[in-house]
Amino acid sequence: MAREQTGTAVVTGGAREIAPAKGKLGVMLVGLGAVSTTFIAGVENVRRGCALPIGSLSQMATIRLGKRTEKRAPKIKDFVPLADLNDLAFVAWDPIPDDAYTAAVKAGVLDQHEHLEPIKAFLQGIKPMPAAFDQYYVKRLQGTNVKRGKNKRELAEQLREDMRSFKKTAGLDRLVVVWCASTEVFMTPGPAHQSLAAFEKAMEQNDQSIAPSMIYAYAALMENIPFANGAPNLTVDLPVMEGLAEERRVPIGGKDFKTGQTMMKSVLAPAFKARMLGLSGWYSTNILGNRDGEVLDDPESFKTKEESKLGLLEHILQPELYPELYGKVYHKVRINYYPPRGDNKEGWDNIDIFGWLGYPMQIKVDFLCRDSILAAPIVLDLALFFDVAARAGLSGIQEWLSFYFKSPQFAQGLYAEHDLFIQQTKLKNTLRWMMGEEQITHLGIEYYEYAEK
Ligand SMILES: NC(=O)c1ccc[n+]([C@@H]2O[C@H](COP(=O)([O-])OP(=O)(O)OC[C@H]3O[C@@H](n4cnc5c(N)ncnc54)[C@H](O)[C@@H]3O)[C@@H](O)[C@H]2O)c1
Repeated sequence: MAREQTGTAVVTGGAREIAPAKGKLGVMLVGLGAVSTTFIAGVENVRRGCALPIGSLSQMATIRLGKRTEKRAPKIKDFVPLADLNDLAFVAWDPIPDDAYTAAVKAGVLDQHEHLEPIKAFLQGIKPMPAAFDQYYVKRLQGTNVKRGKNKRELAEQLREDMRSFKKTAGLDRLVVVWCASTEVFMTPGPAHQSLAAFEKAMEQNDQSIAPSMIYAYAALMENIPFANGAPNLTVDLPVMEGLAEERRVPIGGKDFKTGQTMMKSVLAPAFKARMLGLSGWYSTNILGNRDGEVLDDPESFKTKEESKLGLLEHILQPELYPELYGKVYHKVRINYYPPRGDNKEGWDNIDIFGWLGYPMQIKVDFLCRDSILAAPIVLDLALFFDVAARAGLSGIQEWLSFYFKSPQFAQGLYAEHDLFIQQTKLKNTLRWMMGEEQITHLGIEYYEYAEK
């Protein structure tokens, strides 16, 4: 369906009115470590024509529209009014004062000569703002570049001021915040997370149940800025944040970027279920030597990650429906900090399956991946899709972006959808729906009925 421009809004003739992506979009990153610097440096290299945005759906993928016979498959970025890469500006908070160049060199993900030196001045210009940080929540880190305030509410006000002043000084039209900071210690929702009044009171009392990530999330929502959470911390997965996001009409989502091992799990497990093959055990282990690995070496941060990595099998396999196949699955996940590997993680999976008459078989997966190379395009897509979601008037949990998360947030009464291909269908159908295009059901019977006539 053709889009026509009328004044400030783009009318699609479909379900949503989407404000155009005019002006600049500020991407505010919490954390300026391996993922954030790989993302920023990557975008800058792409903008300069020195590299391709591989792994990014928003930049590389096409979307089929209409019937297969119509042969309409534009790129997503040409179909949906996303912000252009040239209109992105970046800023970050980090308790470690290194600028983006120094942080990228230390992270050791990108080739210094090929991808960092040519953009050195650009990266050096991104200096982290003081963070809302407390070592209680990330035991293995020590930060010097931190905000001071008499209580957590004051820190939230300082973050809000950072957001307003970035928008003003950089001449931006819109902002999005993406949490790319370390995984915080394991926490469960408590009374302080149930209502805005309780949350604000708890901030004033410096209550321990208010983690730094929640302070950023609160600040963003109070400034009407979409917030995506790339780590497994609760952050926006709390009644108070869901309520605030709905009330202020702001999109939120999380948790935990779905990159290497879990991405593979969300592809393989649906395949076993599709063929009604049984599963008796899945042992996953990782060796990882970057700072994230060091943080996750702390049992409390690991517990947060473990919960996020364990959840999906049960949801995908539905043991309650298939007790003979999935009623007794032994699922174990380990992450071992091993410095020599740096960001180049190795994830092993041993999968014990069984088939016809119960005969056992094994599958071994050894994924020699690069964590931040897989995560960077996800940060880009989330920033762009959360921005368009806001412009399309969508608010609260953006379930259609579950595709990007290990542990997707969902509305009360539902369950998370983990199957990568269902998630992809949901994402693309949401884009079609936003733009007033027909849903693709893959029924396809009409091609054959038509042929008979
Ligand atoms: N790379 C992946 O494939 C992947 C996948 C899923 C999730 N993640 C998550 O993404 C996050 C970032 O990963 P990374 O490899 O870049 O880690 P990293 O350790 O290189 O960077 C994280 C940065 O966050 C900073 N930080 C910690 N607490 C902060 C706070 N309160 N405010 C601001 N900054 C803070 C740290 O100082 C550090 O510089 C981690 O939580 C990780 O678990 C990564």
